[in-house]
Amino acid sequence: MNITVCIGSSCHIKGSRQVVERLQALIAEHNVGETVTLSGAFCMGNCQQGVCVTVDKKLFSVSPETVDAFFQENVLDVILREEVDDHG
Ligand code: FES
Repeated sequence: MNITVCIGSSCHIKGSRQVVERLQALIAEHNVGETVTLSGAFCMGNCQQGVCVTVDKKLFSVSPETVDAFFQENVLDVILREEVDDHG
């Protein structure tokens, strides 16, 4: 799974740095560093929706306040579902 956080100037002002740092911490906390790749990208062209984050190319609007819920719903829950699928 690839998570990409926009670090363009508009998203930066809205807290992309905090979002990245929180995501790094959450990935470590939940031990999903082998499954999840975190990277940064420049402006994704959706500045008004920032902080823009994509998960496997799907676009989400995240803020430092919502990053925990975002991670739970769109990362952890998805990983769990995928694991269930893998094991039939
Ligand atoms: S700066 Fe993030 S979408 Fe433009």
